[in-house]
Amino acid sequence: MPNLVITGGTRGIGRAVVELFLKEGWNVCTCGRTEEGVKRLKEELKGPKNLYVKVCDVGDKNSAKAFVEFCKEKLGEFDLLINNASILGERLPIEEYPEEVWEEVIRVNLNGVFYITKYALPYMKSGGVIINLSSGAGKRPAPYWGAYAVSKFGVEGFSLLLAEELKPKGIKVYAFNPGATRTQMRAKAYPQEDPLTLKPPEKVAEFIMRLIKDRPEKVSVDYEL
Ligand SMILES: NC(=O)c1ccc[n+]([C@@H]2O[C@H](COP(=O)([O-])OP(=O)(O)OC[C@H]3O[C@@H](n4cnc5c(N)ncnc54)[C@H](OP(=O)(O)O)[C@@H]3O)[C@@H](O)[C@H]2O)c1
Repeated sequence: MPNLVITGGTRGIGRAVVELFLKEGWNVCTCGRTEEGVKRLKEELKGPKNLYVKVCDVGDKNSAKAFVEFCKEKLGEFDLLINNASILGERLPIEEYPEEVWEEVIRVNLNGVFYITKYALPYMKSGGVIINLSSGAGKRPAPYWGAYAVSKFGVEGFSLLLAEELKPKGIKVYAFNPGATRTQMRAKAYPQEDPLTLKPPEKVAEFIMRLIKDRPEKVSVDYEL
């Protein structure tokens, strides 16, 4: 059975990916920031044997390393790594953007992707895939999206350079923009929006499953119907 490591599997897109890949027979290792969150995930999914969970803050290098080592111990080598965990921060003009929020968003969304990837690379199978969750806000100017937008531009750049570095190892890298999806993060960004007008995270999980089968050449990929 193939092995998936995905950060931020406790809800939203991450959770939908966890559920779909488990259903397809994969071994899955995931994390969230709290004991309560990871315990709830295991309980709600009725404790599948091929699901491994651990508390981890991806923006903390020691925590990120411990999570990757835990995944290696439980799964062996990885077929697929998905850097999904991320936070929104504030939606404010740069002039008003609080320094501590900026630092926290960059720490989680950008440093976290670097740490998890760096520690996971020695355990990636040749022919494996790395998917980094990006955003439309990381591709074109999105005024007032502040540190989130800048972190996702960083994720796009990181993915482009990593894709080149890993070509000789036969590992594919994608920066994947899921587009508007019915999750807590989206509801926080657009409180006036009716969530029922948005696609559910299960659709994004299905797209990711197709992406790893189709393996397109381009690095920056958008969700398409
Ligand atoms: N939803 C959209 O419309 C949309 C659009 C474009 C891009 N995206 C991207 O898609 C990805 C998933 O977004 P989502 O909407 O599913 O978000 P979400 O509902 O807010 O879920 C975020 C997940 O990340 C985890 N997480 C947050 N900070 C973490 C940290 N420091 N360490 C470990 N885990 C952490 C959360 O778990 P805990 O709270 O349990 O820690 C949760 O499981 C993100 O990268 C987001 O930027 C989403």
